[in-house]
Amino acid sequence: MSLLALRQVRKRFRLGEQEVEILRGVDLAIEAGEFLAIMGPSGSGKTTCLEILGALSRPSEGSICFEDEPVEDWSDDALADLRAQRLGFVFQTFNLMPRMSALRNAALPLLYAGVARAEREDRARLLLERVGLGHRIHHRPAQLSGGERQRVAIARALVNEPRVILADEPTGNLDEATSGEILALFEALHAEGRTLVVVTHSDEVAARAGRVIRLRDGRVTGIAA
Ligand SMILES: Nc1ncnc2c1ncn2[C@@H]1O[C@H](COP(=O)(O)OP(=O)(O)O)[C@@H](O)[C@H]1O
Ligand SMILES: [Mg+2]
Repeated sequence: MSLLALRQVRKRFRLGEQEVEILRGVDLAIEAGEFLAIMGPSGSGKTTCLEILGALSRPSEGSICFEDEPVEDWSDDALADLRAQRLGFVFQTFNLMPRMSALRNAALPLLYAGVARAEREDRARLLLERVGLGHRIHHRPAQLSGGERQRVAIARALVNEPRVILADEPTGNLDEATSGEILALFEALHAEGRTLVVVTHSDEVAARAGRVIRLRDGRVTGIAA
């Protein structure tokens, strides 16, 4: 059984009169507990692929399964529940709410999940402590460094206790030392049994992954152990 699987996934976008095919038959099975890196040149379809894996976007053709159950025909609400309960996202540009404190940012997925405020804040505080930001919980994003912002985003991705963390170039906007800290955090998450799917240009990130796949022009071109 695989935790997440794409079968012959194609994704097309309309651009004016033209239709462009960004994913051109992607097959990918991700096992529970895996640390998978997705690499490939800019424009090769990595983000599009991650968005489909994360049920943020639907394939134009092909199927996506969670725990062997096809979900491509699920309603938007059902997919939103799936995301809220089982998936955590980390983005290159952090995507934090600028007017909210680190604590409120990290707690946000729990607000959507209908968890009461006291519990939201308790759980968010624990995760901020876990990522080394226990002393920054009332800071807003603008008052934090890039690495600290990404750690808030990782706390937010973890607050729902998801089985899978999907990260799109999580160290792409960070300096080397800060990237190293974030990478150590990902390794710790992997060591405790989480499944990680990380899009990256970084050889260092890829070197820590258990498996690396390469995308080129919307196809998987290389699989290295
Ligand atoms: N919503 C969209 N509409 C039209 N084209 C898109 C859309 N999203 C992505 N693309 C195009 O798809 C291609 C691959 O994008 P992306 O998946 O972001 O690649 P990568 O993350 O590997 O750089 C790019 O040429 C991009 O412009
Ligand atoms: Mg991208």
